Amino acid sequence: MKRGWFITVEGGEGAGKTTVMETIQAVLREARLPVEMTREPGGTPLGEELRGILLDPRWQGMHQDTELLLMFAARAEHVHRRIRPALAAGRWVVSDRFTDATYAYQGGGRGVDMRRIEALEDWTLHGFGPDRTLLLDLPVETGLARARQRGEPDRFEQEQQAFFERVRAAYLERARREPQRFVRIDAALDLPQVRAAVWRIVRQWVRESGAVS
Ligand code: TMP
Repeated sequence: MKRGWFITVEGGEGAGKTTVMETIQAVLREARLPVEMTREPGGTPLGEELRGILLDPRWQGMHQDTELLLMFAARAEHVHRRIRPALAAGRWVVSDRFTDATYAYQGGGRGVDMRRIEALEDWTLHGFGPDRTLLLDLPVETGLARARQRGEPDRFEQEQQAFFERVRAAYLERARREPQRFVRIDAALDLPQVRAAVWRIVRQWVRESGAVS
């Protein structure tokens, strides 16, 4: 059986990931491909428990190593129990965030040495990663203004603008280094324009994968 593709969606706060996830799902369904939508941290019962801890403002002072290890604990569960089995069964998997978020938030935002993240990535994933990644990029201020309309901020949303500027810079640097995998989308555009761009890109991926002609 043909292996499905693993697609991830990344970006800062208020970038419109939810709409983009819905659009990707619609394109894949239209192509009659079996698809699983998931997210990080989370995506499994245990991973969702860890997400609750990671986003809880009660743990504001969590040590950055604890945060990093919990992210990878949730990811190990997600990859071994859900993502790889789904891909092996021929399904496409679309995840709202994955390891690039760790490089951006823990590496860029918190300032954790990128080599430590690489070591954990090698150890837990053994080279496994997304086939394609959509990076929703927009000015930090625009994203934060949108995110603030959503109610109570979680532990990450409580960070200052400088933190998110570092997150954005780290994402852009990763996209620059892996141009074959990343497609950057200007998320400051109107939603219909973002949707149209995503539609076009994902249709192209489906053709490239050979799943439909
Ligand atoms: P979200 O559902 O809004 O994307 O919330 C998840 C939060 O977790 C978001 O602020 C980014 C953060 N995060 C990390 O810091 N590192 C990671 O590896 C992942 C997957 C998410």
